[in-house]
Amino acid sequence: MVNAERFIRDAIDEIRREAGERRVVMALSGGVDSSVCAALAARALGDRLVPIYVDTGLMRKGETERISHIFGDLNLYIVPAADEFFSALKGIVDPEEKRKVIGELFIRIFEREARRTGARALLQGTIYPDRIESEGGIKSHHNVGGMPLHIEFEKVIEPLRDLYKDEVRAVAGVLGLPHEIQHRMPFPGPGLAVRVVGEVTRERIELVREANWIVESEIVDRFNPWQCFAALIGLGTGVKGDNRVHGWIVAVRAVNSRDGMTADPVHIPWDVMDRVALRITSEIPSVARVVYDVTPKPPATIEYE
Ligand code: XMP
Repeated sequence: MVNAERFIRDAIDEIRREAGERRVVMALSGGVDSSVCAALAARALGDRLVPIYVDTGLMRKGETERISHIFGDLNLYIVPAADEFFSALKGIVDPEEKRKVIGELFIRIFEREARRTGARALLQGTIYPDRIESEGGIKSHHNVGGMPLHIEFEKVIEPLRDLYKDEVRAVAGVLGLPHEIQHRMPFPGPGLAVRVVGEVTRERIELVREANWIVESEIVDRFNPWQCFAALIGLGTGVKGDNRVHGWIVAVRAVNSRDGMTADPVHIPWDVMDRVALRITSEIPSVARVVYDVTPKPPATIEYE
């Protein structure tokens, strides 16, 4: 386990040294990694830090409001980009291509903002497991692979690159970040797009966002899992009234993990699963079926794509 106080001192020094006189942009997603980065960089750079929240349209319910509430002090710049993301994702079904498209659009938006602000360096919350998985070629994480970083930025600063998730949380605690951020579940860079199997559309994202909200509200506080969420995995047959209808299949996943590299399904009691299934099918009428995923990682990944 890293010594948080020493890590913070060293990271602030490193950010100052790497940044030099440059202005530094960063993507603030509100996850624990980017929040820790923002807090460190705010101490290191003051108003030379330009934190940007890209509203991709692929975030969880209430996310944008929450971020602007928590980070209002930092001169946060919110970029409304949902339309751009949905048009870029049109017709794309391959999971790797999806990640690439999202990652590249993300970085293009950064570049646009960097140009506007005169920032020449990029700060990223990449942590150790992100690097291992990308180097191992398992998938391209959008905060590492698939991004043509060399195009615009003179420097990429990654102060969390050697930390595991639990270490990042410990640092968040010492930095005095809100409990809510410190203990937040990890959320993938490409957002809800990797929780829709197949083509991403605005309607599907709205649906999976609502299902995620229900799953989180029933499971997070009671079981405190590493991650829990809902994914849209396909179409199946259901029955409404007297008719057989085609409706969505929603998979619910709740896992425990130390660092995201391996994971075990949480044993959720039947009565809780009953309520989750009932709520999802009644609050989202286009869902015909709810299933619970009991697969560990490996062989499955945590996310669906
Ligand atoms: P998988 O699905 O690979 O996920 O078992 C492992 C952990 O990483 C998260 N994840 C991502 N995080 N960018 C991220 O920052 C990504 O592209 C990405 N893909 C997956 C996932 O939520 C889990 O915690």
